[in-house]
Formats: sequence, structure tokens, C-alpha cells
Amino acid sequence: MSQRETWATRVGFLVAAIGSAVGLGNLWQFPFKTAGNGGAAFVVFYLVAVLLIGFPAMLAEFVVGRRTHRNAVDAFEELGHRSWRIIGAVGLLTGFWILSYYNVVGGWVLRYILGSATGSYFGNAEGYFVAVSAGPEAVLAQGVFLAIVVGIVALGIEDGIEKATKVMVPSIVVLMLGLAAWVATLDGAGAGYSYFLSPDLSTITANAGTVIPFAVGQAFFTLSLGMAIMITYSSYIGEDDNLPVDGGVIVVTNTLIGVLAGLIVFPILFANGIDPALEGGASALFIAVASGFGALPFGRVIGVVFFGVVLIAALSSAISLLEVTVAYANDNYGISRPKLAVGVGLGLFALGLPSAWDTAWLTWFDNFAYQIFLPLSVLLLVLFVGWVLADDAVAELRQGTGGLGAFGPLWLWALRTVVVLGVLATLALGFDTMFLGESPAAFAPF
Ligand code: PFF
Repeated sequence: MSQRETWATRVGFLVAAIGSAVGLGNLWQFPFKTAGNGGAAFVVFYLVAVLLIGFPAMLAEFVVGRRTHRNAVDAFEELGHRSWRIIGAVGLLTGFWILSYYNVVGGWVLRYILGSATGSYFGNAEGYFVAVSAGPEAVLAQGVFLAIVVGIVALGIEDGIEKATKVMVPSIVVLMLGLAAWVATLDGAGAGYSYFLSPDLSTITANAGTVIPFAVGQAFFTLSLGMAIMITYSSYIGEDDNLPVDGGVIVVTNTLIGVLAGLIVFPILFANGIDPALEGGASALFIAVASGFGALPFGRVIGVVFFGVVLIAALSSAISLLEVTVAYANDNYGISRPKLAVGVGLGLFALGLPSAWDTAWLTWFDNFAYQIFLPLSVLLLVLFVGWVLADDAVAELRQGTGGLGAFGPLWLWALRTVVVLGVLATLALGFDTMFLGESPAAFAPF
């Protein structure tokens, strides 16, 4: 068997994991979930969910990946019994499912970069969205986006993913800081900041029951959990990496970038007199923000930079998800990486066709992912790590830290209680929404 690949450096792992986490979830869904769920009050729930549920769950994925150095499916077999492979398989399937429509949205972003450069959506943002978001043009753009993703993954861990994300992630941060500084100069920006940053406490208490599960789902999506990504990425790291510190860096950076996205998007909307609460859905980023660019000085340049950032972020996430399936097949069937990347890419293209053809399908795929696949996948994972691996998991977490103190037992306790309860609540609500006829509106990003 050939030598398994590894990250060249610890920073390489960190940057790739941040690249995976920072994506459409931060730049697009987070601002508009915030808008649809009561503004800053949602931000508070989201931050709590990230810290209390997302962070411990991320460490659980790291423990599985690093302990076994295997792909996400075989890792579970190695930790006990062949039947545990089902946990990894659910994660792999969840990731495959999500990537199928994520590529479609990636294709839209490509079109919006072109549209910004030529100014073709200026004056008719809605018409442009309708034209590029569904049908043959969307299918074509999906294919182009996917081809780029396949190309990077085909090059491998060190030469492909690590090198690409080392350029992408710093570019995202620098460009976003630049955009945020520019946005601060807009007339009316202040209303955007206060909408995003000053929570109305009465909405928090009144909506806790429904908003908590939304916030938990968003925390999983944005941290790339439940898709076998973090298991796969951490399977390429060494024993001396400090997992809690690495996880902390990833969570904090990802959260700050999400907040930065809000600090860009909301002021643009308010400066243009657009009410975010009325502009949710698919149109959100694409129509509302785009029409903002149409009305602003230097709109073309700003539009290209903005959608360029979204594209880079989406690409660095999509490569992480393709890598999960490629790693699994590479470990098991010994087929070369480039062939696998192309083969899996074709499968993804096929599964993405309904979403590219009609945004109603895209909405359905996304709802199913958020409400069923993601919480189910994380639930299986945390039950396994919390109850089956248990003390072995704490020992693995300790490795490379020089001692965890009370953090180890606290983490295990959190996995078994807070995390399991939060995920169960999310899954129950998702089940209710998907199968018992409740409106999924509050979830739908499209
Ligand atoms: N954390 C990613 C995001 O927020 O966009 C989630 C993700 C989605 C990762 C799709 C990878 C992916 F292909």
C-alpha cells in the first residue's frame, strides 16, 4: 500500500480546515438566517450553539480522525466493530448530498462575478437572478465550478488542497476587511450595524424553542460538521498537534468571518433602503446585495471583489467535501486520485442536476440536509465518541496537549449531555418540519 499523505505543516491543516469552514454558510446563509430569525437575537443563539455544541462536536470528529488515520468510514471500523461504519457512511452521504447543490450555488457565484464586471445585473437584479439561477445556464455554471474543485482535489493533499487554501484563506480575510472598511463609509451604514449587533431580548425569550434548533443547524453547517470533513482532514495530522487549540482557532476564525460578513452585508442593504427581513430566501445575497452594488459608486469593482470572495470561500469548502469521498475510495480501491476526483465529480454533477434545473429542488435538498442529515449524522457521531470511545476519546484528545486538566472530563460530559440534547431537539424539529407539514420557511435559504 502506498504511503498515506499528510499535511506538510500544522498551519497547513489549520488553514485547510478554516477554508472548509468558511463558505457560503458564513457569507450568505448566516446573514440571512439572522435576518429571517429576528436579527441580532439570532446571533446570540448562534454564538452559544457554536461554543457549547459545535466546538465539542468538532473535537469529537478530530479524535476519530487522528486516532485512526483512516478515511471517515473505515475509521469507525478500526475503533470497534464493522457495523460502526454506518456512522461514517451517514457522514459521507450527508457531505455528498450537500455538495451536489453547493456546486450549483457556486456556479451562480461565477455568473455574478461576470455580471458584476459587465454590469449586466445593474438595474435588473431580479431578472438576472431568474436567468442564471435555474435551467441550462445554471447547469453549465455548475459544471464549471465543479471542474475547478475536481482539479484541485486531483492534485492531492499537499500539492492541491494545502497549497490552494494557503492562498485562498488569507485572501478572503484581507478582501473582506477591505470591503468592511469601504462599507463603513456608506451613508446609512449605522442602521445596518445596529440591526445586526443589538439584540432585542424579548425576541430571544419568545422564540427560544424554535430559534435554538435553527442556530444549532447553522453551527453544524458553518463548522463543516456531520459531513465527515473534519474526520478526514484530521486523519492527515500528527500526534503532536494540540486538538483543542486547533479546534479553538478554527471555531473563532470561522465565527469572526461570519460576523464580518454581517458587517458587510447589512450596512450595504440599509444604505440602499432594503429591509433584510423582507428580502430573505434565494434572492437574499444575489438580488438584494447585487442591487445595492448597482446603486453604488464603483459598483462594478466592488461587485467583482465581493463575489470573488464568495467564490474563493465556496471553492475552499467544496474541495474539502470532495476530498472526503475521494479519500474513502482511494484508501479502499487503490484507484488513482485524479481518476477518483473526476469520477466522484461526475456523480455529484448528476445529483446536482435537479437543483440546477429548478431552485425549488435546491431548497428541498438544502432543507433535507439541514433538518435531517446533519443532525442525524452529528448525533450518531457524538453518541459514539461520548459513550463508546469515552475515556479513550479523552486520552486521544489529551495527546499533544501536555495535559488537559478538567477540560477532558468536561468535554466528555458536554458531549453526553448538552450536545446530545441540542442535536436531538434539532432533529425532532427537523423531522416535524420535513414530514409533519410545518412550514420550513425559517430554514429555507433559497
Ligand atoms: N462550512 C461550510 C460552509 O459554511 O459553507 C459548509 C460546507 C458546505 C462545506 C459545503 C463544504 C461544502 F462542500
